[in-house]
Amino acid sequence: MKISVIGCGYLGAVHAASMAKLGHDVIGIDVDKAKIDALAQGKAPFFEPGLPELLVAGVDAGNLRFSTDMADVAGSAVHFVAVGTPQQKNSTGADLTYVDGAIHGLLPYLAPGELVVGKSTVPVGTAERLVGIIAPTGAELAWNPEFLREGYAVKDTIAPDRLVYGIEKGRRAVEILNKVYAQAIGNDTPLVVTDFATAELVKVAANAFLATKISFINAMAEIAEVAGADVTELADAIGYDDRIGRKFLNAGVGFGGGCLPKDIRAFTARAEELGRGESVAFLKEVDAINLRRRDRVVELVVDALGGSAYQKKVAVLGLAFKPQSDDIRDSPALDVAVRLHGLGAHVIATDPEAMANSAIKHPQLTFGTTAEALDGADIVVVVTEWKEYRALDPVELASVVNDTIVVDGRNCLDVVAWRGAGWRYIGLGRR
Ligand code: UGA
Repeated sequence: MKISVIGCGYLGAVHAASMAKLGHDVIGIDVDKAKIDALAQGKAPFFEPGLPELLVAGVDAGNLRFSTDMADVAGSAVHFVAVGTPQQKNSTGADLTYVDGAIHGLLPYLAPGELVVGKSTVPVGTAERLVGIIAPTGAELAWNPEFLREGYAVKDTIAPDRLVYGIEKGRRAVEILNKVYAQAIGNDTPLVVTDFATAELVKVAANAFLATKISFINAMAEIAEVAGADVTELADAIGYDDRIGRKFLNAGVGFGGGCLPKDIRAFTARAEELGRGESVAFLKEVDAINLRRRDRVVELVVDALGGSAYQKKVAVLGLAFKPQSDDIRDSPALDVAVRLHGLGAHVIATDPEAMANSAIKHPQLTFGTTAEALDGADIVVVVTEWKEYRALDPVELASVVNDTIVVDGRNCLDVVAWRGAGWRYIGLGRR
């Protein structure tokens, strides 16, 4: 099928490349010329495992093209809208400027029978509003939220764990989307066909649930810290109940990224607009618990340094919001590095993939290799659980640092091994 993808960020670039991999003829559109130039040469503008291979294959085969010119979408049967919906500058609501811009940009090129498919995460009610704008062109609208995780985005797009189609009426949109996703449909991927509002809500409800699960375990970590309990053993024990499950029960410095934080805030703002703020008021608490964990990591570092981080050499291992990503949007790791720097510490921050992005946003920080960060450090702070950091040898490291203190902000290190090697190990919610 001829497919256009409007917006080539973390979501759109992966979607475009994955659609080409599935055999479709794809044109990706973005206003960012540098990004489009890179993509057109088969280069991923951000770190995502598996994406470079797909880009090269699609560009070489000729069924994956990129352009800054919206006119190039003309003739596509399906137009995916995958632009960002960041948090507004002056409120917690979602900024729909890019979604509205994409829809209005598409209008001159839409023809009867074509399908516009919203993938961006939007406040409930958005599709209902947009359908009236699109209707005069004769094109239809569907809402098809995306559940991909960064780091696994290619797999999640090609083999999703479920498909959700929000449609207005009739079955035509369903038939078109089933053709787009023929491989997943053929593999019996669960499919939920529903209305616009439900499809929009599914997406924010899923992210709100995940955020709540993480903040729940982080709240237990806060209690464990004062009660002398161990949150990882608690998570293991409750996780054996398959109604609860062990996934997303890793206590630590909390969640970040371009989705969970802004999605729970936008959901709260939208619920308030709808007069049901109290229904999701708990999400404010989820947000507050999450942000408190960053304070806690900084507090643990300062306490371990004897009450002041001033002029202490602090090795911050990790800047990305999670491993397998170079994304630093709302990253707890980067936040901790910036705060420690603000306290006068001599921070050397490192990350396998996210240093370049971090340097653009926070040029005041000093960056280095893992070895440079650790050399002579007064304290080691692990804030993104990259496997490189989990694999560090505490015995070897003990001779490199100035003082053997480690704050494990992700509870990802082998506590027995580190303590056995003579380190003072400080975890979150751990004994
Ligand atoms: C999240 C959702 O997991 C995806 O399903 C969704 O499609 C995506 O948002 C989106 O809306 O586009 P992602 O932002 O890639 O995906 O990251 P997650 O894997 O959900 O992790 C989010 C944050 O939670 C990370 O900072 C991670 O370190 C943290 N986390 C995760 C924890 O602190 N503890 C856990 O147990 C799990």
